[in-house]
Amino acid sequence: MQTDTIEKSKISNTETEGIQREPDIYDSIQFLQNALINDPTNCDDQCNLAICYGLIYEMDKSIELFSKILDESPGFLPALDKLGRALIIWGHQVGATGWFSIYEAAYLYRLVRELENPAPVIIELGSCFGLSSMIIAKALSNKPDALIYCIDAWEEDGSSVSQDTREFVQDKAKSNISFFEIFQNNMKEFNVDHQLIPIKAYTSDVAKIWTQEADLIFVDADHSYEGVCNDVSDWKDCVKVGGQILLHDVKLECAGSDEDSAPGRVVNELLGENSNFSSGTLVDSLYLAERLR
Ligand SMILES: C[S@@+](CC[C@H](N)C(=O)[O-])C[C@H]1O[C@@H](n2cnc3c(N)ncnc32)[C@H](O)[C@@H]1O
Repeated sequence: MQTDTIEKSKISNTETEGIQREPDIYDSIQFLQNALINDPTNCDDQCNLAICYGLIYEMDKSIELFSKILDESPGFLPALDKLGRALIIWGHQVGATGWFSIYEAAYLYRLVRELENPAPVIIELGSCFGLSSMIIAKALSNKPDALIYCIDAWEEDGSSVSQDTREFVQDKAKSNISFFEIFQNNMKEFNVDHQLIPIKAYTSDVAKIWTQEADLIFVDADHSYEGVCNDVSDWKDCVKVGGQILLHDVKLECAGSDEDSAPGRVVNELLGENSNFSSGTLVDSLYLAERLR
């Protein structure tokens, strides 16, 4: 269906304008833009146009358009899937590789986009290279009064990150670029640096002095059992009533004691049976629960 539309555009442009060259992606963009002048809410054409923007690496435009489609037609699922892809692809292009699946990226984006508060407070525990920070910021591009706190130790020796991340960070350090600067540079590339408040510190230290309630707290820092346990214990009461807590890398069935299963264990122990929180929703490994009282 989508391919058909683009193919038609190629044929149309070639025939009507008498162009001798092979039609290209720009012809398709032109065709779709024209079609949308006549039928501005056509989801298929908008979706195809957003795909075309992605193909010419105009990721910001692509994401904005997918987002517009979903604002207007939340049930148009092809746009949700492709939005997730676009977010991940952009992250990779900029060098903000993260650990999100396409569905997790799309889910986080829509979750944040649909927050009712016009000036929401979001706290991210663990930002690393900023993939999830960018997703949150892009989802709040229509809410200039939103506050997004990104708390991360960004240790220069990369000691609180996985082996491959550590090697990357240490390699950059040889050219005098710190872990924190990598994050800041990425945020500039994504054009969201003005939206975020980075806090370079340990989550447990910040928790001791934190007083502001949050609409959403995203826990994705230290993945050891003790680390996740401390973060959830320290921060869960900062979620306002009606607000949400979100954890990454949750596998609820895992009974082991390794880092892979730690977030799932903590969810079972601290949130699953906790009457202050609703039962959770799991999308891939993103676990979401609402604070009830
Ligand atoms: C899995 S990464 C975060 C990924 C990020 N949320 C994303 O999706 O792009 C974990 C991050 O948590 C940070 N971290 C680990 N333990 C921490 C702690 N105790 N306090 C603050 N940051 C910590 C690490 O520096 C690392 O950048």
